Amino acid sequence: MKTQTSPIQVPKIGVMPALGIGTWRLSGRECEQSIKWALELGYRHIDTAAVYANHEAIAPAIKGFPREELFVVSKIIYEDLHHNNVQQACERILKELGTPYLDVLLIHWPSAEVAPETTLAAMMKLKEKQLIRHLGVSNFMIADLEKLEKKHFPILTNQIELHPYLQEESLTQYCQQNGMIVTAYRPIQKGEVDREPLLQTIGAKYKKTPVQVTLRWLFQRNIVSIPKASSKEHLLENISIFDFVLTQEEMQAIAQLEAGRRYVC
Ligand SMILES: NC(=O)c1ccc[n+]([C@@H]2O[C@H](COP(=O)([O-])OP(=O)(O)OC[C@H]3O[C@@H](n4cnc5c(N)ncnc54)[C@H](OP(=O)(O)O)[C@@H]3O)[C@@H](O)[C@H]2O)c1
Repeated sequence: MKTQTSPIQVPKIGVMPALGIGTWRLSGRECEQSIKWALELGYRHIDTAAVYANHEAIAPAIKGFPREELFVVSKIIYEDLHHNNVQQACERILKELGTPYLDVLLIHWPSAEVAPETTLAAMMKLKEKQLIRHLGVSNFMIADLEKLEKKHFPILTNQIELHPYLQEESLTQYCQQNGMIVTAYRPIQKGEVDREPLLQTIGAKYKKTPVQVTLRWLFQRNIVSIPKASSKEHLLENISIFDFVLTQEEMQAIAQLEAGRRYVC
């Protein structure tokens, strides 16, 4: 394995580090170790959620790390979206993570039962109390966001499934034109992009893997990505994308891979 002696500097998109570590399906000792490796390598953005049940495994890994250098995102679950539950849910997350605030709290999925403005209004109170720095949403489509437009909630990011086979061009444009950062989840399709011939060809030119080409392509679209990785090799590979630039032609060629293929429903 290639060694990395000093942390890689991850650029920001707005206030968000452009690359983070996703933690779905990471738990216990493995989660703690992966986060420690990630921090060593230069990751500062950690994506988690109440439903991942791993806040307590992340806590020891971030303990003692300068809090202001971290960017911690968590999400509240369906049952806690009611106005009266939001503060308690947030306080539980903070206690589990052992942190005084979250950088972003997201509504994990839009709910048919609780209007998002109800939850977002409660989240505004958390912001006033400095328990969270920013409000966010996840899995919101254009129609969901349009309904919120007149309410003027300062939504920092919409976290959505986005990768070469599901490029969400219209939704990305809508978010970016309305001041929201797009965060891509499942960005490397669980490593499946490694089998894509076009990405292999482009990668060979830069001595990069198809996964790295994918993450670079997202970065050049001003999209934050949060690939999950448990091994140090994968963590290093995924963060080593800030030393090459894809050409316009390559960006356009990757755009042709769009297939409307959704993995998470
Ligand atoms: N908001 C939502 O509803 C939502 C939904 C899904 C996911 N998410 C978030 O987004 C994160 C990322 O999505 P995801 O975990 O579903 O999928 P992903 O990041 O696209 O893929 C993760 C998988 O890819 C493997 N991998 C990582 N780096 C690799 C590399 N360089 N080469 C080959 N394989 C590699 C990992 O293996 P190893 O673990 O063995 O390294 C893991 O099996 C989640 O962890 C979660 O934080 C959010």
